[in-house]
Amino acid sequence: MRIAVLNGPNLNLLGQREPELYGRTTLPEIETMVREAAQRLGAEIDWFQTNHEGALIDAVQGLRGRVDGALINAAALTHSSLGLRDAVLSVQVPFVELHLSNIFAREPERRHSVIADLAVGMVTGFGPQSYLLALQALVGRLRAA
Ligand code: DQA
Repeated sequence: MRIAVLNGPNLNLLGQREPELYGRTTLPEIETMVREAAQRLGAEIDWFQTNHEGALIDAVQGLRGRVDGALINAAALTHSSLGLRDAVLSVQVPFVELHLSNIFAREPERRHSVIADLAVGMVTGFGPQSYLLALQALVGRLRAA
């Protein structure tokens, strides 16, 4: 089973970026946690981060036929990118949307996601743990399918 993890803009700055919101764990540390958890679950991880909307759209387009599912933290593009939504719609790959912070407890403009209704489900608000919960949920869903 192959799972892509797609990370959007500014997540490369985790650890130093607004630590009161996002914590002190860096993205490479989260990647290590996810890879270890995936190994225990018998899944392989394709890890990707970009600060560019077009690159994220390219990565979504590249999912079809290559992976069984995806975890997507599109960061700020979650709230704005219809291009991202169209790409997700076009590939039909099951995915879990995730966020470190609880987007529904934040500013009004962050309480809407352009991809949430296309997701298998969403995990939001558990810090780095959101990645692990999302992975576990997605693998469980794919195994049950
Ligand atoms: C985020 C939430 C977004 O609103 C924000 O733009 C991010 C990170 C999260 O993981 O909590 O960059 O996706």
